[in-house]
Amino acid sequence: MNAHDSEKVVGTLERQGYARVEDEAEAGLILYNTCSIRDKAEQKVFHRLNEYKRLQGEGKKFAVLGCVAQQEGEKIFEKAPYVSLVAGSASYRNLPEMLARLEAGEQRITGLDDRQTDLTFETEFTSRSNPHRGYITIIEGCDKFCAYCVVPYTRGKERSRTSASVLVEARRIVDLGYTEIQFLGQNVNSWRDPSGRMSFAELLVAVGELPGVKRVRFTTSHPRDFTRDIVEAIDATPTLCDHVHLPVQSGSTAVLKAMQREYTREWYLERMSWIKAAKRDISITSDMIVGFPGESDEDFEETVTLVGEVKYDAVFAFKFSPRPNTPAVTMADSIPDEVKAERLRILNDRQREIQREHYGRHLHKVVECMVEGYNSARGQVIGRSSQNKTVNFSMGEFGGEFGVQPPVGSYVPVKVTQTLPNSLVGEAAGLPDVLAIPVARTPDFVVLN
Ligand code: 5AD
Ligand code: SF4
Repeated sequence: MNAHDSEKVVGTLERQGYARVEDEAEAGLILYNTCSIRDKAEQKVFHRLNEYKRLQGEGKKFAVLGCVAQQEGEKIFEKAPYVSLVAGSASYRNLPEMLARLEAGEQRITGLDDRQTDLTFETEFTSRSNPHRGYITIIEGCDKFCAYCVVPYTRGKERSRTSASVLVEARRIVDLGYTEIQFLGQNVNSWRDPSGRMSFAELLVAVGELPGVKRVRFTTSHPRDFTRDIVEAIDATPTLCDHVHLPVQSGSTAVLKAMQREYTREWYLERMSWIKAAKRDISITSDMIVGFPGESDEDFEETVTLVGEVKYDAVFAFKFSPRPNTPAVTMADSIPDEVKAERLRILNDRQREIQREHYGRHLHKVVECMVEGYNSARGQVIGRSSQNKTVNFSMGEFGGEFGVQPPVGSYVPVKVTQTLPNSLVGEAAGLPDVLAIPVARTPDFVVLN
């Protein structure tokens, strides 16, 4: 989401006539887009800013964007007086105006929104860095207020775009050659059509049925708003990827309650059973936090058993990190870092065991892969499956003889010959779908008569 925000910011700046350069050394204006979801984000930001400043000398302008900007506000000017613009993501729609003031010589510009803003940041000028996978933010902000999380304070209240505006953006990027569309939102499935036309599942299907679309992904879903029709939509629509990222955070109902997640272990497992009952093999992945205040050994054990029960295809596990302004900061029973680290290790080891075994189900199956690049040392193509797994494959009989090197962005059917804990290995089972090669169009030519 942070990376896609940058794509929108870059597009907005280019539209204003700014030219993007390769690195900081060449730049007159350095914009630093920050994230504060975990760790010592604020400290890191000041450290990095100091480094830029030291290496750059005088004469450059600095801006701090994103969640640290929203969180720290004008304090940033005190700690780093050479910064001239501080703007949280909820005010990016005002960037053209703020940039104009910066150009006019204003020294300190602040773009901070209170939580109540209703506006979203939409721009048709997004400068997309991937020519094949196009991100579309369909919902911004969050109203869930999980006890550990800074997002509701930094990204404002939940607000959705209309289905019409999402579909127009999707059509536009499909016209540009994008074949994969990924919907983004802090809680993407909490999306509600302000025009009342479509449900989230219907929006997925509508985009999945646009001519030219090969894949639709969405991240991140929240269990509270995960409805059965999403699974039905995936089952019925081949272009919807067979992958759901549904963060559980903890396997213990007591910890979930303390986290204010508003569901129990059983409630979550019921959603898992819907996904597992689907006709398609839908891959499930999750985020988890270990060492939340008060998490006992028994609570943690419930997270480990949940991982075994669900059999996730990937788990992103984090040590609890106290974030400013959140209720969890003041909670008693904080867990020592060594215990957090040990729990993280145990959880990751268990998950690795599961993946080692669970990935075996793909052996000898044919999966369609989008080509992402090449490993020339191994003579392999690097692809990604609909389930979002990395697949390293050789072209075999569809390679040399035909002289085919599948272009990045094309789709190749691959027979899986080996499964590893984190990836699959295979051999092409057919020619690349060359028609699907996306074309990144740049208006850098002219035809004269
Ligand atoms: N400490 C640790 N992990 C966190 N996450 C969010 N906030 C925190 C925090 N304070 C994790 C959650 C979320 C993912 C994006 O980051 O697991 O799903
Ligand atoms: Fe943070 Fe919870 Fe909102 Fe996710 S749902 S962004 S974890 S507050």
